[in-house]
Amino acid sequence: MPTPDSHETAPPESLLSPDTLRLALDMPWKARNEIERLLLLPLARIQFALAGVVWGVGWKLYGLPIIQKHRRSTLTFGARLELRSTHRSNPLGPNRPVILSTRRPGASLVIGDDFGMTGGSIVAEEKIVIGNRVTVGANTIIADTDFHPLDALARQHLPLDGAIAPITIEDDVFIGMQSLILKGVMIGAGSIIGAGSVVTRSIPAGVIAAGNPAQVIRALESET
Ligand SMILES: CC(C)(COP(=O)(O)OP(=O)(O)OC[C@H]1O[C@@H](n2cnc3c(N)ncnc32)[C@H](O)[C@@H]1OP(=O)(O)O)[C@@H](O)C(=O)NCCC(=O)NCCS
Repeated sequence: MPTPDSHETAPPESLLSPDTLRLALDMPWKARNEIERLLLLPLARIQFALAGVVWGVGWKLYGLPIIQKHRRSTLTFGARLELRSTHRSNPLGPNRPVILSTRRPGASLVIGDDFGMTGGSIVAEEKIVIGNRVTVGANTIIADTDFHPLDALARQHLPLDGAIAPITIEDDVFIGMQSLILKGVMIGAGSIIGAGSVVTRSIPAGVIAAGNPAQVIRALESET
């Protein structure tokens, strides 16, 4: 969940900060990404403002995401949001921008602090809730809807009426690249989803799950 400090004013960033200059020497491609990010910052802020989303503390957007928000839906992010939407923004070369969509009146997508995502889509027709410190690997899709109905006749008519069920992703979950998180799924706190998984059923907290359909591989060792 976004914390109360999520929308405080952050200090202005500079193209000539010591961090940017150090990056330019060690990893020139990262310096390029940082410069592009800072140049795009005004556009990114306008894009979120037009969608009615309040800009948060420490947000970093590499390239512009695509935001498809129904006027009467809710889209909320916590502090330190990090979205990578360009090919060069990550060594995995995301194949498209991050797309965030709340497609119906009353739909809600609520994401906590320290959320990171590279390429891919999150589509909420009813409700998707993502906790704090969640990392989503490149080109992953999270959708709480089947989009199209199972009945062949119904598929010929608008509005599209596929099954919908809310998704919850708890704190500290890490979702591997190229995964699909389907409707009605809950992923418990701290769990890891292996690369290329198709998650069709809920996954408990504190495990690694992977495959198609995703199955628990093993429990994560507790650090306490
Ligand atoms: C999930 C993951 C972190 C687990 O790593 P690990 O604990 O070292 O797991 P192991 O390699 O020991 O594999 C354990 C078992 O799970 C299986 N497995 C692991 N990852 C799998 C996957 N993505 N899909 C299907 N099965 C998988 C292995 O085949 C192995 O099965 P076995 O015991 O029958 O031989 C790792 O496999 C993974 O997916 N890494 C990629 C993370 C990623 O996407 N990063 C990029 C983010 S942008």
